[in-house]
Amino acid sequence: MILISGDVHSQYHVINEQIRHAEKFTGRTLDAVIILGDFGIYEQPLHRYFDKEGGHFLRKLYFIDGNHEEFCQFDHLVEKYSHHLNHLSRGKVTQICNGRFLSLGGARYMDALNSPSGSEIRDCDIARCLAHRADEVDFVLTHDCPAGIGVPNAPGMEFYGNPGFERGEELIEHFKPKKWFFAHYHRWFSGKIGESEFFGLPESWKGFGLLDEQGNYQAVEHAVEKREDWLQRFIKKLFSL
Ligand SMILES: [Fe+2]
Repeated sequence: MILISGDVHSQYHVINEQIRHAEKFTGRTLDAVIILGDFGIYEQPLHRYFDKEGGHFLRKLYFIDGNHEEFCQFDHLVEKYSHHLNHLSRGKVTQICNGRFLSLGGARYMDALNSPSGSEIRDCDIARCLAHRADEVDFVLTHDCPAGIGVPNAPGMEFYGNPGFERGEELIEHFKPKKWFFAHYHRWFSGKIGESEFFGLPESWKGFGLLDEQGNYQAVEHAVEKREDWLQRFIKKLFSL
């Protein structure tokens, strides 16, 4: 059984709380956790959680990159915390339990704030995916969703254009995956194109998905309290001086 989670945005403590809830809910021990990007690879909160607070995850954790990560230090931080985190790079197929997962982190360009250099999905990332044979892949993991699957725009976000990244339909056509999981839009979604099912997940503190050994998927709503993040603490400290 694998727990699939949406954006974490450096609220790392949420992961263990959702693992505990999932194990209580199912009466089973989870085999792994997969985070669908925006885990929050930033030096400051990683240092605080792992080095200062001695944090660790209860189950093996895999993640793809999103658009809110510290890309200028990404490889260094992933290496530094590699005993806690397993990065699924773009265009790679990884066996997790008995499923074969194609990973494609990153997102379509939104704006300079939401799309730091390194976050955009490039043609070479798509090409790396398409280099795999269709029969090598069961499931697809992306942060953004493929364009045209019916994910609605969030109210007030219309100026970013229609949701989704281009060339996603080439991946759908090539792989015809059983299931495709994504996050980024901060809301639940489900849809179907041909034999492929698409599932969007909200932020990690609102719930998660469970994927069993037979490939059955279930969405579980479960709210977890957020903590003040490092930026809020920094601002508070700044104004208390
Ligand atoms: Fe995102």
